[in-house]
Amino acid sequence: MRRDTRPSFALRPLTRDDVARVAAIEAESFATPWSEAAFASELDIPFSRAVVAHPIEDRANVVGYAVWWRVSDEVHLLDVAVAASWRRLGVGELLVRRVLDDARECAARMTTLEVAEDNRAGRALYERLGFSTVLTRKDYYGPGRSALVLERAIP
Ligand SMILES: CC(C)(COP(=O)(O)OP(=O)(O)OC[C@H]1O[C@@H](n2cnc3c(N)ncnc32)[C@H](O)[C@@H]1OP(=O)(O)O)[C@@H](O)C(=O)NCCC(=O)NCCS
Repeated sequence: MRRDTRPSFALRPLTRDDVARVAAIEAESFATPWSEAAFASELDIPFSRAVVAHPIEDRANVVGYAVWWRVSDEVHLLDVAVAASWRRLGVGELLVRRVLDDARECAARMTTLEVAEDNRAGRALYERLGFSTVLTRKDYYGPGRSALVLERAIP
């Protein structure tokens, strides 16, 4: 699909009504997914932020989400995923850009995250947005599945 013919998306804060849909996207995205309860509990954590993405004309239709923490002078991206049928349309980039904007808003020094070494899509997205690898955690997700710790300085 050409970029100028792609649908447009917007973001809004995660609410309790979104949690079941978000957990369903999570389940199709990760081998060890967060539960509905885990997403719901983020709503009660004062330093946690979470948004969902929706097609601009269809506010109720959640197609992706991001959850991050403002901790000290860092923003830590905990979870981001896009529903399988809505990928490669710019939603992941929109979500991660929102996290970077929030890092700027709260004057964070950097944004950090962890990604599986074999997660080609995630790594390509983060590299495109200026993240670089600062640490490898060998076998973190099981034998032969390392985690990379990525950082992006906030100017
Ligand atoms: C990673 C993920 C969030 C990307 O979401 P997305 O909405 O498809 O990403 P975007 O459309 O915004 O892609 C932006 C850019 O990232 C890169 N990218 C995204 N997916 C890619 C893929 N499968 N292969 C290569 N590059 C990819 C491309 O540079 C892409 O730009 P382009 O489409 O113009 O080439 C999505 O694949 C996903 O939910 N994966 C499962 C969950 C996950 O791995 N989350 C991250 C874990 S830390």
